[in-house]
Order: sequence, then C-alpha cells, then structure tokens
Amino acid sequence: MLGFSLQSPTYMYLFKKITDLRRYLDLQKQAGKTIGFVPTMGALHAGHAALIRQSVSETNCTVCSIFVNPTQFNEAADLAKYPRTPEKDIDLLLQAGCTVLFMPDVSEVYPEGQLAPLKLDFGYLDQPMEGTHRPGHFAGVAQVVKRLLDIVQPDQLFMGQKDYQQFAIVQQMLALTKLPVRLTMCTTVRETDGLAMSSRNQRLSSEQRALAPLIFQTLREAKANMHTEWPEALKKAARKALSVEGMEPEYFEIVDGKTLLPVDIFEDHETVVACTAVRLGDVRLIDNLVMKT
Ligand code: PAF
Repeated sequence: MLGFSLQSPTYMYLFKKITDLRRYLDLQKQAGKTIGFVPTMGALHAGHAALIRQSVSETNCTVCSIFVNPTQFNEAADLAKYPRTPEKDIDLLLQAGCTVLFMPDVSEVYPEGQLAPLKLDFGYLDQPMEGTHRPGHFAGVAQVVKRLLDIVQPDQLFMGQKDYQQFAIVQQMLALTKLPVRLTMCTTVRETDGLAMSSRNQRLSSEQRALAPLIFQTLREAKANMHTEWPEALKKAARKALSVEGMEPEYFEIVDGKTLLPVDIFEDHETVVACTAVRLGDVRLIDNLVMKT
C-alpha cells in the first residue's frame, strides 16, 4: 500500500504482479464493487487526472495501469525518449483518488510464448491518419488494451477524446471480441492557451511550446468556417496555417466521426471531426475537434 506523499489525502495499492492484482480485485468484485479502468503509459498530467476522477465518480474501485507498451511504438527512438516520471505519477494518482495502480514489467504483460497473437480486422478505421503515419501502431494498442482488459476485467473503461482514432479502434476491438466492458470517452483537457494536455508536451523546448497553441487555433478556425467553406478548402487552409517555421503538419483531415472516412460534404454526415498531427522538431503532437454532432 502506498501513502508516502505528504499532501496525499488517501492511500493507494500498488501491484506489479497479475496474481496479486487479481486477488485484490476478486475480493472487490465479491463485495459487489464495480471496477473502473484507466490504462496509461505514465508521465501523467491533468488530462489523466480527469480520467481518474471520472472513473472515481462512476465506479467503486478505480484501477490505473502504467505500462509503456513497446509494441505500439513504430520508432525505437520514440520508445526510448518516452518520458518516465513514476514518483510524480504516484502523487497525481493519490490526489485524484485512484484506488489501485498496476505497474507491470514487460515480461508480466507479454510472457514469452504464452499468448496467442491478437488478429482483428479494423476495416478502414486503422487505415487513415495515425494508421498511415504510424504503421503497426494500432495493432500494438489493440493488443495491449485487450491484454490489460483480460487482466483487470473492469466494468468500465475510460479513455480520452484526444486520441480519437485510438478510441474508435478500442471501441471496435470491444465489439469484435464481445468483451463486456462499457467504454466511456472523456473530453480533452487543455492548457489555458488551448494546447491539448499530452505527456509529449514535456519534451517541447520553450520556442516549440510557444508555437504549439497554433494546433488548436487552427482546428477552431476550421470549425468556425465550416458553414462557408468546403471541407477540402478548410483542410488546405489548415495545412498552410500549420506550415510555419519549426512546425510541420503530417496531416489535417476532416472525417466522419464514426467511420473515419473523409468528409466531402458536411450535410452528408451526422458527426464530423477534424483531426491533425504535427511535428515540432522530434516531438509529434496530435489533436482533434468535433465539428458536428
Ligand atoms: O493512450 C495511451 O496512453 C496508450 O495508447 C494506451 C491506451 C495506454 C495503450 O498503451
């Protein structure tokens, strides 16, 4: 049990082994408690705290996992540079009221030769945007989320809107595997200047940080002009706006909120989302804005 932060209002259990976690969670289930789950890769920020708080308010026992999943990184350098801040993370989780932190080693999540590979057909969902720019990324995400769900067996899973395409993939994975888990999307938490909270923000230089709010400004600009411009023109204008010195857009797409297919005419779609990824030096940031619901 952890409770070593002086400011922490409460305590939290830390498990590294599946058997210990399961023993605890089985007792909770037997006592009629509902389990909420927030999977993370650590380097936690206010966006994660919001996910934890939502889980705490909707379930009886909140489990957060911190596991930097090697199978979802398509660049070895990105995996190596991924920020790791365990002490700060523990403090944030204690403050947010998390009940259990699961922090397994790679060998615990992927025991050699013991797991069948997860082969799922996501149709078009894993093709565009992140799918194009990070080949194999979503196979790794689906694999680890399925594995963690098998371990934690939660009633409810909480994930952020910032990773919109990831959310769509996990939703489809749950439908395909028929796992009895309710998936809840939590709104993106932003800095006061609009920059979406992300673990990667820590790696921005002060110049890059000053430039980064342009991402959300551009998304808002596209939405503001959607009643007078075609999607194609909005995308072109957005890519131009994001092409400033020190920033390079990878994509700016306007897609159907369910299928992620490109939107040509707004009126033809019930939900529409603008999604973008940009590079600032070697830091890659993504963001999105729902244009129509
Ligand atoms: O969004 C993330 O942090 C990761 O992709 C996730 C869902 C924890 C899987 O490793």
